Amino acid sequence: MERLSTGVPTLDALIEGGIPRGFFVAVVGEPGTGKTILCIHFISKGVDEGDKCIYVTTEESRKSIITQARQFNIDFEKAINEGKMILIDALMGGQEKWNLKSLSPDELTEMIINAKKELGYGRARIVIDSLSAFWLDRPAMARRYAYYFKKVFSKWDFTILATSQYAITTAEAFGFGVEHVADGIIRFRRSIKNGLLRRYLLIEKMRQTNHSPVMHELKIIPGKGLMILKPTIIRREDLTLPKQVKNKIVKARDKGESEIP
Ligand SMILES: Nc1ncnc2c1ncn2[C@@H]1O[C@H](COP(=O)(O)OP(=O)(O)OP(=O)(O)O)[C@@H](O)[C@H]1O
Ligand SMILES: [Mg+2]
Repeated sequence: MERLSTGVPTLDALIEGGIPRGFFVAVVGEPGTGKTILCIHFISKGVDEGDKCIYVTTEESRKSIITQARQFNIDFEKAINEGKMILIDALMGGQEKWNLKSLSPDELTEMIINAKKELGYGRARIVIDSLSAFWLDRPAMARRYAYYFKKVFSKWDFTILATSQYAITTAEAFGFGVEHVADGIIRFRRSIKNGLLRRYLLIEKMRQTNHSPVMHELKIIPGKGLMILKPTIIRREDLTLPKQVKNKIVKARDKGESEIP
């Protein structure tokens, strides 16, 4: 089976060498846990291997992604200028060619297909960071959109990495059902132990793969990026919020939802 390296060798080792070609993989987790950094590695590796690469950013601007990548010695500006990569900015709007005017799944699909045509034939990678942005105001649509993206993009020879925010209250990726549609789920987590922030990664699902079932601690290293460290055992209490806090969030969310016209 052909597998695409994620660009993080220590992560590839947990999934038999990489992500099977054509897969749709959900990258889920709380803020600041490393989702975007993994996406940057995945695209950078694609550029190195001659894949056609498209990065869609909704939470950060194009400039911010380029700056973040540069901190890990990854030169996206060069890749873009050499026609190896297209960075679609869905945050800033405006008239630039590769700026998305609205967070519409149809507009995104059209732009991605145009980008692929411009990049040319061949094996391709897309990152959508984040996918949840496209259904913020209608979470019930998540499964349908995820299914739609997977169906359309797999026809264009894409392997897809899509991030999704983590809903602390339900322990499910934000947006119902994405995890069932995805061929793989890479879950990032965090905990604060003795006043220290720690990050972890768990492969929750990777179809057709004898993946590691063990949670691993990870580090984000200046100049290098993401690195998986040792296996770890953490207790549920390390990851969940106190009950009162959780209840407060649920209440606020329900109130918010009932206020949506
Ligand atoms: N140059 C760097 N050196 C070391 N650590 C860094 C560097 N740049 C960023 N980080 C760490 O990475 C974190 C951001 O990771 P990342 O952007 O991947 O999070 P994320 O999971 O995408 O979060 P969100 O859901 O908010 O987008 C920062 O909070 C910081 O701790
Ligand atoms: Mg991010």
